[in-house]
Amino acid sequence: MPAINREKLKNLLKAEEALFLKTHPKSFDLYQRARKSLHGGVPMLWMIRWAGTFPIFAKEAKGAHFTDVDGNDYIDFCLGDTGAMTGHGPESTVQAISEQIQKGITLMLPFEDVIWVGEELQRRFKLPFWQFALTATDANRFALRMARHITGRSRILVFNYCYHGSVDETLISLDEEGTPMSRSGNLGPQIDPRETSKVIEFNDIAALETALSSREVAAVLAEPVMTNIGIIHPSPGYHEALRELTRKYGTYLIIDETHTICTGPGGYTASHGLQPDFLTLGKPLAGGVPAAIYGFTEEVSKAFAAKLSVDDSDAGGIGGTLAGNALSIAAMKATLQNVLTEEFYSKAIVLQEQFTAGVEGVIKEFELPWIVKQLGNRSEYWFRPRPPKNGGEAHAAIDPELDRYMHLFALNRGILMTPFHNMALISPETTPADVDHHTKVFRDAVMTLV
Ligand SMILES: Cc1ncc(COP(=O)(O)O)c(C=O)c1O
Repeated sequence: MPAINREKLKNLLKAEEALFLKTHPKSFDLYQRARKSLHGGVPMLWMIRWAGTFPIFAKEAKGAHFTDVDGNDYIDFCLGDTGAMTGHGPESTVQAISEQIQKGITLMLPFEDVIWVGEELQRRFKLPFWQFALTATDANRFALRMARHITGRSRILVFNYCYHGSVDETLISLDEEGTPMSRSGNLGPQIDPRETSKVIEFNDIAALETALSSREVAAVLAEPVMTNIGIIHPSPGYHEALRELTRKYGTYLIIDETHTICTGPGGYTASHGLQPDFLTLGKPLAGGVPAAIYGFTEEVSKAFAAKLSVDDSDAGGIGGTLAGNALSIAAMKATLQNVLTEEFYSKAIVLQEQFTAGVEGVIKEFELPWIVKQLGNRSEYWFRPRPPKNGGEAHAAIDPELDRYMHLFALNRGILMTPFHNMALISPETTPADVDHHTKVFRDAVMTLV
């Protein structure tokens, strides 16, 4: 395919914006009203970053579909950016929530069900001890605190263009010369992240050894496959090296499964036999109800207990009044027991393969210099001809204008993709016809560009 005609792309985008305005008059009116009480007209900063010129106001969501206030229907491939990976409102989770809500929501006391959840997490992830939080951000934050507290080391290590939530220490990236710097857009950092963190490229074993060898790194925080800058798989042998080097230099390994839980019931850790010291996970764990977990080894548990004063633990920076509340636990139990099962994954992954093959077919048909990558029930296409091996390479291929066009074109034809990337998640509630509709719309979008 010849290079994209930028002038044409601008005009196409304008036409899609006009269509969007025409088909979303009620959302537009609500947005005008919302701007008078909500900063930016949205409850959370990111919600303004959708492809339209204002956000769609949702009306109802069920399974893999939702409707908006204007009566438009959508196939939801965003699924709350993994928070609703189960499909919206899974029956068993909804029933458990409805029952628990009658019996108490939060007490700062455990209900018996939490033990079932702890035992199930042991079984799935092969780590013996568990704690609860409300967001994956907090689960990561708490695991990092524990690692620093135990090791007495101040630094952490992350990979270039990783994302682990709004965790201060992780908002660091490499500039074009490979120099660490505060990540672009890092808002009001309490401390320059270069003082708390090291950052290297994923899949670079030599850089990993150099960074760890000073023995000042308490923990490496890693997604086992990078998912927040496209999907970047580890090179063969990378995980073995990561484990070996973290052990060699006395650094804990924290594996963040918040997105990679898309690979199976025990995440990438179980399917690839990883042996982290900590594992963190949030988002879909309770079918969309706020809930997160962090688990760790017996060695970590003992070392932490030895250094913990229980009398001071309420003000120690780890906890959260609502963490482990009865509602989240009931939702988590039902979701683990009846929703995020082997059957869930086998069904969803077949559909995801159909999705990936559809996109791949169009890329081949039009000889596009693009790729599509799949990980479990998650696929993402990226505007470069070869898979990137690290975040820096992937970041260099971002094309905000083209991204926006592809998203808005899809949105105007009843398809919601995940914002900030070209990512699609599939739940077993998605149908083969939904997937075919995406392939058709994706092809139609490409046809306008060639
Ligand atoms: C891998 C990973 N970890 C943690 C988080 C943080 O999740 P939350 O925003 O729910 O705290 C995210 C969010 O996208 C994520 O992708």
